[in-house]
Amino acid sequence: MRLDSADDCAEPMTHDRGCSLSLSSPPMQDPKEPEPLWLEVDRALEDWLGPEDAALRSATASAKRAEMPAIAVAPAQGRTLQVLARAISARRILEIGTLAGYSAIWLARALPADGRLVTLEIDPERALVARENLARAGLSERSEVVVGPAADSLEALIRAKIAPFDMIFIDADKRNCPLYLKHSLALARTGSLIVVDNAISRGRLIDPSTGDPDANGLRAMMELVSHHPRLEAACVQTVGAKGYDGFLIATVVEERIGAAGR
Ligand code: SAH
Ligand code: DHB
Ligand code: MG
Repeated sequence: MRLDSADDCAEPMTHDRGCSLSLSSPPMQDPKEPEPLWLEVDRALEDWLGPEDAALRSATASAKRAEMPAIAVAPAQGRTLQVLARAISARRILEIGTLAGYSAIWLARALPADGRLVTLEIDPERALVARENLARAGLSERSEVVVGPAADSLEALIRAKIAPFDMIFIDADKRNCPLYLKHSLALARTGSLIVVDNAISRGRLIDPSTGDPDANGLRAMMELVSHHPRLEAACVQTVGAKGYDGFLIATVVEERIGAAGR
């Protein structure tokens, strides 16, 4: 069954860790669409925590003008990334998947003036727009948009023995998440934070029947995380303007607690 079709939601669903799940009634009509209440709460949170400023709004507008898909993180999610970066006093951040630079602005703003954000984007036109948006936000000095397939850019960074990143935000093609996670480990240090966007993807994470390579990539990533001795991970399910999703949040450790017994 497919989770995003409402008609067969009553069927139990199995996923490849052997558990089964029945969706409670009433089912969500379309988990991609935000519930009105989630949107209202997101707006209230923006009022309390601080609305987007002109640079962020203009990044969103430029993405729309360039007919990019509306898949940047929501404001509340950008804020979450920023708080996480601040919490670990990140000085060097790597982002995989730039689009128009919306999340890059949130992340780069968490950096000190001499900090550095490197963000990887396969599409040269998107990279151009992102550079303009980062410039408009006054963040050109501390950011760099690297054009090319992320796997190649990551390998080049590893070969160049670039200084480790304190935080890595993975948000490109989901089918390559396992590869990006492995490369991220090579570019991190003990204590680095790795965050992966769209980890839940409205439940597709646990539904192998879609045959969707992106959902399969997310699941393969979770398998990697579940066995990896140097990752201590949590997954936060989220709702809001972008529907039902979540962040995988992992710290790089010397040795995982209880890893010996696994
Ligand atoms: N982080 C952005 C959204 C990124 S959307 C934000 O929240 O504002 C995902 C981006 O990854 C797209 O712009 C897409 O072009 C890019 N992408 C897809 N496959 C890629 C690849 N193999 N290498 C690098 N970037 C890729
Ligand atoms: C979608 C959302 C994302 O955040 C992303 O990175 C890719 C796709 C989506 O809603 O389809
Ligand atoms: Mg995303």
